[in-house]
Amino acid sequence: MSRVVLAAADEELVLRLKEATDGDLSVLPPGRLPSEPSRLFEQLLDGELPEVLVIGPGATAEEALGLAARLDVQSPGISVVLVAHAAPELWQAAMRAGIRDLVSPDAEVADLRTAVDRAGSTASGRRRVLRPVEETARYTGRVITIASPKGGVGKTTVSTNLALGLTAAAPQSTVLVDLDVQFGDVASALGLTPEYTLPDVVSGPAVEDTMVLKTFLTQHPSGLFTVCGAESPAAGDTVRGEDVTRLLAALAREFRYVVVDTAPGLSEQTLAALDRATDVVMLTSMDVPGVRGLRKELDVLRELCMIPAGRHVVMNFADPKGGLSVRDVETTIGTGVDVVLPRSEKVPASTNQGVPIIATGSRRDPMVKELTRLVTRFQATPLKAPGRYRAKHRAAAG
Ligand SMILES: Nc1ncnc2c1ncn2[C@@H]1O[C@H](COP(=O)(O)OP(=O)(O)OP(=O)(O)O)[C@@H](O)[C@H]1O
Ligand SMILES: [Mg+2]
Repeated sequence: MSRVVLAAADEELVLRLKEATDGDLSVLPPGRLPSEPSRLFEQLLDGELPEVLVIGPGATAEEALGLAARLDVQSPGISVVLVAHAAPELWQAAMRAGIRDLVSPDAEVADLRTAVDRAGSTASGRRRVLRPVEETARYTGRVITIASPKGGVGKTTVSTNLALGLTAAAPQSTVLVDLDVQFGDVASALGLTPEYTLPDVVSGPAVEDTMVLKTFLTQHPSGLFTVCGAESPAAGDTVRGEDVTRLLAALAREFRYVVVDTAPGLSEQTLAALDRATDVVMLTSMDVPGVRGLRKELDVLRELCMIPAGRHVVMNFADPKGGLSVRDVETTIGTGVDVVLPRSEKVPASTNQGVPIIATGSRRDPMVKELTRLVTRFQATPLKAPGRYRAKHRAAAG
């Protein structure tokens, strides 16, 4: 049975489609249909992408066609079924947008079942064909660097939870690198005792040969691979920017996701990691000094043309009593906030126990929910080619 997600539907259609899918249906909350697939799939709690997306009559034709056309390009392994009155001109537009089937809003359960089953088999067929392409495209592993101007704002918390979340959805395909070269604590946050650490991995035989490199990684019981931080600040200081560049390039050839935890500020190693990154998660605590610091860091990185194409702004320690709203923050930093993580008393305990909260916390826990939303951002959007902020804007202007 295919995984089916329904958007923009009224209750009556939800009931009929539930019957047509034998109850195996995820229903997205009502509201405007987003135009970007990533925004749509962020709403899926478990972060797993469907084979079939059914768009109900609650969406306008323009919204449905726009989203379908984007999905057709970005996620060809998802089939779209549109529930709408089928005027002849809509058929044509739907076909052009890659919509699999058009079903009348008053279709019987049996007709809905046929449409969804057919769309599901097309999606599975496409996925079988697409898989070899994905496998040969190993050289485009996403490098996600977690950075912040200040210390103690949750970089290690976010990177360990993000890496575990990505591992859960795609086992054996994620590696987490601790680039906080002096005081890295990824090993402790994951309860690991590494045999080899960052300085061993970037020097000696591991740098020469990827097969050897893999044997230098520490594996977490979840299947996540890690490069843990140095044992002493002095040992960590031997790691240079060019070592980081070489290591991340090698890992991106082997892993679909390379998550990089960094030290606060813009050290040589962090700049090297930002330079290799396809994505940056800029993190700050939700208070005035933290937000001002983030603004300055964004300004510097913009000047250096070092903001990768995938930029994700995350606020941590959000507290309704703190007096700052997301809008205040957005005005100060001059850009949107993507994810807001609440202050949670369960997080310090999870850090101390070496078990990230995403692994054991309830799915309903507000912190787990938001962390899962962050994970989904990386699953739902396609791989982006490394690009620089300024280059992107020039292209748009030209
Ligand atoms: N949302 C949260 N709610 C409550 N506590 C949190 C939250 N996020 C992180 N913490 C706690 O704050 C402390 C600092 O977090 P973390 O180590 O992840 O920050 P960091 O940015 O990596 O710090 P450093 O800059 O020192 O590496 C940890 O004890 C962690 O458990
Ligand atoms: Mg840290």
